[in-house]
Amino acid sequence: MTATNNVIELKNVSQWYTRDNGQRTVVIEGLDLTIEDVPKKGQFICLLGPSGCGKSTVLRYVAGLQKPSEGQVLLYGKPRKPEDHVGMVFQQYSSFPWLTVLDNVTLALAIKGVPKNERKEKAMSYIQACELEEHADKYAQYPILSGGQLQRVAIARSLVSNPNLLLMDEPFGALDVNTRLKMQDMLLAIWERLWHINDATTVVFVTHDIPEAVYLGTDIYIMQSDPGRIAHHLVIDLPFDKTRQVKRDPRFVQYVYNIEDMMMNVPQKRGAESAKK
Ligand SMILES: Nc1ncnc2c1ncn2[C@@H]1O[C@H](COP(=O)(O)OP(=O)(O)OP(=O)(O)O)[C@@H](O)[C@H]1O
Ligand SMILES: [Mg+2]
Repeated sequence: MTATNNVIELKNVSQWYTRDNGQRTVVIEGLDLTIEDVPKKGQFICLLGPSGCGKSTVLRYVAGLQKPSEGQVLLYGKPRKPEDHVGMVFQQYSSFPWLTVLDNVTLALAIKGVPKNERKEKAMSYIQACELEEHADKYAQYPILSGGQLQRVAIARSLVSNPNLLLMDEPFGALDVNTRLKMQDMLLAIWERLWHINDATTVVFVTHDIPEAVYLGTDIYIMQSDPGRIAHHLVIDLPFDKTRQVKRDPRFVQYVYNIEDMMMNVPQKRGAESAKK
């Protein structure tokens, strides 16, 4: 396999922060992660791991928002370039509060160069999919919209431009249970639609919810802390056209318990101080 067959490659990545007193806190060390391209399909990668192990940091590398202290970040076999377009949903709400919901979603299309007359209809279809049509003309700011509604604006904005690579950092963390379950199915449906448009769309999805990861993921990576790196990789072999009924399938339940055991056994401690200066 050549390097160009990989959507994402992190090679021997380390991250440290230096304090005022010169001491280094090592957060990630020797992290390797290779996400292969699966033509005509793409992959749905779920990333699990204890708080502080570096999940958001990994997404920031791939999004081009941060460079590792050491190591390489490759996208499609090449060093990451500023113009590489990836969709990103952040752990915190990230809509533009001075724009309406509709204008937030339309802006993503304008940036992508979609002709003006096509933008509104397309934006509205994603706003509807995220069940925000009643709020399309409201400003995307708290408390005009609730936290969960704002997160759905960010999701609609990230999906509308059909990205080949979509990074989602705990996107459903602020949603109530019903909305969360509906959004899981909506995301799977949109992912399926994106393959037809893009040939393959790869999603990297961070969550703390093990059943959510097993339901959504084609692959699950479990990270450890101290130092942050990949501890386990599981390929999820479940029927492809999933409905929520699959959660009662014994294989599903087994995955959840196995992952729970793995999570309990990965190193959890916060990054240790290193003597390096
Ligand atoms: N600028 C910084 N200075 C010092 N430490 C930092 C800085 N940015 C991140 N860190 C540390 O890096 C570690 C990894 O952070 P990250 O946000 O990637 O964790 P996470 O796995 O996403 O956690 P969570 O599940 O809580 O969101 C944390 O211990 C954090 O304190
Ligand atoms: Mg995080």
